[in-house]
Amino acid sequence: MGLLPPYLDPALPVADRVADLLGRMTLPEKVGQMLQLNAEEGVRHLVEDLHAGSILHASPARVREAAALTERTRLRVPLLVAEDCIHGHSFWEGATIYPTQLGMAATWDAELVERIARATAVEVAATGVHWTFSPVLCITRDLRWGRVGETFGEDPHLIGELASAMVRGYQGDGLGDPTAILACAKHFAGYSETQGGRDASEADISRRKLRSWFLPPFERVAREGCRTFMLGYQSMDGVPITVNDWLLSDVLRGEWGYTGTLVTDWDNVGRMVWEQKVYADTAQASAAAVRAGNDMVMTTASFFEGAQEAVAQGALAESEIDAAVRRILTLKFELGLFEDPRHPDEARQAAVIGSAGHARLNLEAARRSLVLLTNDGTLPLAGGLVADGDGRARGTGEGPRTVAVVGPNADDPQTQLGDWAGASGQADWLPDGQPRAMIRTVLDGFREHAPADWTVSYARGARILDVGPDPEGPYFPDGQPRPEVVVPAAADPALIGEAVTAARDADYVVAVVGDRIELIGEGRSTATLELVGDQVALLDALAATGKPLIVVVISSKPLVLPPSALGAAALVHAANPGMLGGRAVAELLLGLVEPTGRLPVSFARHAGQQPTYYNQVRGQHGARYADLTQSPAFAFGEGLSYSTVAYSGLDVLASVVGPTGTVRARVTVRNTGARPVLETVQVYVSDTVTSVTWAEKELKAYEQVRLAPGESREVLIELPVAACTLVDAGGRRVVEPGRFELLVGPSSREESLLRAEFTVKG
Ligand code: NOJ
Repeated sequence: MGLLPPYLDPALPVADRVADLLGRMTLPEKVGQMLQLNAEEGVRHLVEDLHAGSILHASPARVREAAALTERTRLRVPLLVAEDCIHGHSFWEGATIYPTQLGMAATWDAELVERIARATAVEVAATGVHWTFSPVLCITRDLRWGRVGETFGEDPHLIGELASAMVRGYQGDGLGDPTAILACAKHFAGYSETQGGRDASEADISRRKLRSWFLPPFERVAREGCRTFMLGYQSMDGVPITVNDWLLSDVLRGEWGYTGTLVTDWDNVGRMVWEQKVYADTAQASAAAVRAGNDMVMTTASFFEGAQEAVAQGALAESEIDAAVRRILTLKFELGLFEDPRHPDEARQAAVIGSAGHARLNLEAARRSLVLLTNDGTLPLAGGLVADGDGRARGTGEGPRTVAVVGPNADDPQTQLGDWAGASGQADWLPDGQPRAMIRTVLDGFREHAPADWTVSYARGARILDVGPDPEGPYFPDGQPRPEVVVPAAADPALIGEAVTAARDADYVVAVVGDRIELIGEGRSTATLELVGDQVALLDALAATGKPLIVVVISSKPLVLPPSALGAAALVHAANPGMLGGRAVAELLLGLVEPTGRLPVSFARHAGQQPTYYNQVRGQHGARYADLTQSPAFAFGEGLSYSTVAYSGLDVLASVVGPTGTVRARVTVRNTGARPVLETVQVYVSDTVTSVTWAEKELKAYEQVRLAPGESREVLIELPVAACTLVDAGGRRVVEPGRFELLVGPSSREESLLRAEFTVKG
């Protein structure tokens, strides 16, 4: 037996192994390493002919096949297997599917989000997948954008806290940890600054604006060691992100010292030719992408020829390709894939995927993700109910009750999961979605948790939509399927009639409405935000029965709600709450759990109010439209409990602080009601006079406090002055000495906040 080549010797330093391996590779093998290709149409060609360095969207069978094929290649360079495991192991049958990122964000609980990411990594790592394309750090701006549900909402501070937690959870104890997966911060940067909500449109965004709000969450995770970044689709100031040298080289790798891997988004290199039309052919686009510092090129198979052509033409030096390949190989060596390629492990899968522990965590997340928006006292239903041994609420002592559970989202298991899960469309091997038996809809929740002597009736009430072919044809020029076009469902008086009959026979009506997968996600932005189909007519008809109406909105994103919902006895938002979301909703309405979620994103009253995010820049004529207020229907940070909390005595302990000091303040919160609460004490800062226009206020800190009925607590706020920054006209993040206001309270609504002043000395 001959000696092992140096690159296979684990005793050698990684740099030596990389150098040895790179020296053995042909140009096609190097270019192939830079490719991350779509496995849905088979993997043999990708591995054997294109020497792919990575694959994505590989079914379990294809992951195994690709692993076996890779073992037979000349140099046996292990494959990186990537997948969008963004709220659980999305496309693994039987995996735990958690609330979407927007739902997780409503918990405002970084520690919980970290546990979800950790549990996801444990499931994913057992299946031969090394890399998840999560978290999304985009800031929600225009609610019409289809990907709002994939974000942590509209606030950079909250996004930074939760994204950092998620990265920690995925990456576990580091690259050597066999239960760790690579996290990916995406979509770097500014992708969500759409025009009119249109997906991937040019982002009209200055460098200063990027530095002010869009970049801070990315900077945080870059500095904390997030191993990979994905580049957005869009262009800014005429330059596609894929070739944005300023963003990639000066800022990310330069200022922030990022040494991780960059992956383009789907066919970014091809899009520069066929969509954005900034290069005449793939050779030019490939050369530019390599030169800008990209490492992996997602799903542009023509990059294989294009990059080689660019080298042959002298438009690209092989050494430039070497630089990228060196980074990819370094990552593979550091992951230890040459020693242990982390292939699927069936024994581990059986132990961890969809485990009872993960289901418990999922239920906790779903409960915490629900936001109670209004309540006239109808909830919790018939007062405080206590679960007995089988998880059922006990009766009220006032005799049995009937609850009519109605609406198109009351019993639609796959819709409840939202995008990037099961049958959501990005993977073709789960046509029926995730197993029904693992999912609890709201109807299931009532049947399983209402008091044993209560009656639960059901009627669908309305349909949301039909779909038809896109008149522009079934495929985009790059071969991706075009989503079908949504056609709102025609009115169906018979369906509404059934729901009204059920309502009339009931003591309470729970109407579950919202959106559907066809209205969610990439390429599926919506022009409107209203409930689609016959849902408004259904709610109006239910309201007209005079029965106490509880409206539950299960949707990917905030919708514009009709008066019958806004004026209902109670209103709850559930941002696609995952497999156990329906159970959590029922438990919440029955009073088995307390409402604790707070909105990470504002709800508009009308699509024409866009954007409605709370931290807009000061300075405009007036604060309303001629025909409508600008105030959102529900603002960032809002959310009710079944109790009430009084804030008092906000006191800044030393009202003058130096630029390196800490602002210390205290505030008293008292539970003035009869139920326990988990109160999210929110701390905003307003810089009263600024050298450049700036947001009226920004969230800087928050703390979650548990209070028993009647309990009072003093919360100490400690805020480094270094957090009280703005970005000046020169693009520098600075603290400007002068007068500031500290605003503390239960939401971003001005009227809900206590104020106290402090001064930062020059
Ligand atoms: C395109 C999406 O924009 C991105 O978020 C996703 O990770 C990739 N496709 C891979 O599926």
